[in-house]
Amino acid sequence: MFSADTYAKRRFKLKEGLDSGVILFLGNEESAMNYAGNTYHFQQDRTFLYYFGIDIPNMAAIIDVESGEEIIFGYDFQIDDVIWMGPQPTLKELADQVGAPQSAPIEKLSEYINKFKSQNRTIHYLPPYRPEHVIKLRDLLSIDEKTIGEKSSLKLINLIIPQRSVKSNEEIEEMEKAVNVAYNMHTSAMKLTKPGKYEYEISGLIEGVASSGSGGISFPVIFSKNGETLHNHYHGNLLRDGDLVINDSGAETAMYYASDITRTFPVSGKFSQRQKDIYEIVLEAEVKSIEAIKPGVKYRDIHLNAAKIIAGGLKDLGLMKGDIDEAVNKGAHALFFPHGLGHMLGLDVHDMENLGENLVGYTDETKRSEQFGLAYLRFGKELQSGYVITVEPGLYFIPALIDIWQKENKFADFINYEKVRDYIGFGGVRIEDDVLVTETGSRVLGKPIPKTVAEVENCCN
Ligand code: GLY
Ligand code: MN
Repeated sequence: MFSADTYAKRRFKLKEGLDSGVILFLGNEESAMNYAGNTYHFQQDRTFLYYFGIDIPNMAAIIDVESGEEIIFGYDFQIDDVIWMGPQPTLKELADQVGAPQSAPIEKLSEYINKFKSQNRTIHYLPPYRPEHVIKLRDLLSIDEKTIGEKSSLKLINLIIPQRSVKSNEEIEEMEKAVNVAYNMHTSAMKLTKPGKYEYEISGLIEGVASSGSGGISFPVIFSKNGETLHNHYHGNLLRDGDLVINDSGAETAMYYASDITRTFPVSGKFSQRQKDIYEIVLEAEVKSIEAIKPGVKYRDIHLNAAKIIAGGLKDLGLMKGDIDEAVNKGAHALFFPHGLGHMLGLDVHDMENLGENLVGYTDETKRSEQFGLAYLRFGKELQSGYVITVEPGLYFIPALIDIWQKENKFADFINYEKVRDYIGFGGVRIEDDVLVTETGSRVLGKPIPKTVAEVENCCN
């Protein structure tokens, strides 16, 4: 937990942005896996965590913007809980730790809400992403559950996003810790992958390294020799000499700050010439994108430049042809690079995605494209110092997509399908780092993780 002052200041800033109404925050509940007492690993709601810092299930909070009152609602543990869970802080102690002046039993929440309702006060709340919250909001606010999302407070969302987007030094330190755990996850995977092992032997290890770093994984591990499937969570393949594997995995710290790193490496420890050719293209796109990051630059422009580097590299290899600027403007490169260059990172691995991806990554002036490929770019707007963003270009040979495009003869002026077919079975390459936008440029967070061909081969061996 940060200091009480950090949380009090965050709430103060939020209150300053609204001149009336009440803000309702819901913490998360435990979620049953196969029976009520056997739960998934608890994940606190990140906005609750950002403003109230407490990592305990079944809590809520309200801020009365007009009176300035702040109340944390929760549960005072009883002796039965202590027997099973050990000594627990009281609700009052928890509230004190985060600088909140008042606390009350969770059962009282509806009384407070009813009072606000009877006074016709506006109750600002965030769009729910858990069914339990839909039910809670429906019951507390007497709103039809189908309209709960649309009645959430855009005003509140638009205050939270800019505040959470700019990371403070103490947040950056946490994120740096998360990247350093990812360093161990990625270098361990490189060292322990060998022909004859199954993917799950390595993905399990990656997950264990994350857990040994104080938090756990920040999203389910993507570790696959079929790296052309962007989010491949199947780990049952036998790894053989000649395979290339993608490891897209990150850690979260005990305070839930996330890292998200991708490396691609040869199972044998040595890239073939063909693998190296593709790898170097992606590496150039990644490094040049990081170099281009600075305040005021639109991330969409950096994405498009990365796409041009990829298309240019493929042209040099004979897989693409024609004018590269035109190919990228029309979206022909998306056969090979069908996703966005990156996303915001913070308490969530896709930071604040629950508040609305377009509200986080786009503005009225920079709107999201509908073009295939570019439409998947989660973040396109101007960068600001204090943002942390992932940079993750990739190059893939997706058999089903190649078949469809070739049948349609799509972008035949730019794609040399005969040559592309030779690469079916290649898999994919993605390289990803977590980058802080500084006042003047950018800084890659954490200990440098092997990335050049030589560094990767060295680590694998
Ligand atoms: N690391 C997974 C993603 O960015 O979606
Ligand atoms: Mn990512």
